[in-house]
Amino acid sequence: MSSILIKNAEIITMNAKEDILLGDLYIVDDRIAEIGPNLSVSADKVIDASGKTVIPGFIQTHIHLCQTLFRGQADDLELLDWLKQKIWPLEASHDEESIYYSAMLGIGELLQSGTTTVVDMETVHHTEYAFQAIAESGIRALAGKVMMDKGDEVPVLLREKTSSSIQESVDLLEKWHNHDNGRIQYAFCPRFVVSCTEELLTNVRDLSAGYNVRVHTHASENANEILLVEREYGMRNVVYLDSIGLANDRLILAHCVWLDEEEKRIIKQRGVKVSHCPGSNLKLASGVAEVPSLLEKQAFVSLGADGAPCNNNLDMFNEMRLAAIIQKPVHGPTAMNARTVFRMATIGGAKAVGMEGEIGSLERGKKADLAILNLNDFHVYPSFDIDTISRIVYSATRADVETTVVNGKILMENRKLKTVNKDI
Ligand code: GUN
Ligand code: FE
Repeated sequence: MSSILIKNAEIITMNAKEDILLGDLYIVDDRIAEIGPNLSVSADKVIDASGKTVIPGFIQTHIHLCQTLFRGQADDLELLDWLKQKIWPLEASHDEESIYYSAMLGIGELLQSGTTTVVDMETVHHTEYAFQAIAESGIRALAGKVMMDKGDEVPVLLREKTSSSIQESVDLLEKWHNHDNGRIQYAFCPRFVVSCTEELLTNVRDLSAGYNVRVHTHASENANEILLVEREYGMRNVVYLDSIGLANDRLILAHCVWLDEEEKRIIKQRGVKVSHCPGSNLKLASGVAEVPSLLEKQAFVSLGADGAPCNNNLDMFNEMRLAAIIQKPVHGPTAMNARTVFRMATIGGAKAVGMEGEIGSLERGKKADLAILNLNDFHVYPSFDIDTISRIVYSATRADVETTVVNGKILMENRKLKTVNKDI
């Protein structure tokens, strides 16, 4: 048994009442054993968090760890040219070692900026080595190899046979799904409709139902991508996915920038989980997703940074801030307020991955996935009453994250990373 006591902190719980408490948080093994004022317990490690803030770890629902090393590539292209000219050839050049280090370096950045769970889409090959990095690092993840069995523009090295794409995915799933007591899960990753045959997609639909795992894909990100799908199937992306039974509550759909009313209705009705990636949508000139209208319909929306070359940053502080401010000129100052985006970054992400009973908020019995922030360098009159969530969303940076804990293990402390599990 191991235990950690975090003392005298401001605790942003994100529980159903969104309580903010002043007190202690006691971790035993991988779970939160107690939260309250002046807990009289003994612990292996005591952290004095006076004047500091404890938040649920961020949950990023769309990331490509395999792209971490491609940061700065093709910074001024839009989606399809960027994929064809740079990203696909670079993904094709990956080997076992580069996949491992790409994942490890990405995870290091994520942990240093308070992200404790990722939904990760790898490339076609060597995903085994990304899983090894995830296992060693201690981060929580739903990951999978990308699937692409179609497309003249896809480099030959990345174009798969339908049957081998499926077989390799299932082999990885059988090895890694529920590894380390459920910390690691498998998610099928058909890249997008443009690069997947219907045979592949319907197989993924059945496998996801059979194994009860998530499907993680891109949709309706870019006008030209949408045109390609319409030309082939005579339907918009989400309508097509629905027509083959893939639009369901296990589907995580990244981007969703250009949705018509019918697509929004399907997303809401079927319980599809949208992963909003504001930084990537701006940088790849994709557009500004109409998140306020999705939230109005009470659709599930969470946040992701996408890959490092999509926005040059894997930092959830950046995504939260962008998610809020890009809506203000059109929808007004409160349409996406600080609390709304903070919710999307925490408990909203937990709902997207089907783990709202386990992560996304700080409550007794939940997994201990959290970050300790030191916001004390803030230059304001001490007498001012500051809303901490607003402060975090609009002005915190990764440098404010002092400690990151996943599954009750300290993975980053005083900005230094620790590798928890070398023997996998
Ligand atoms: N659509 C298909 N593949 C990708 C990718 O790697 N990144 C982004 N942003 N969109 C995609
Ligand atoms: Fe992406």
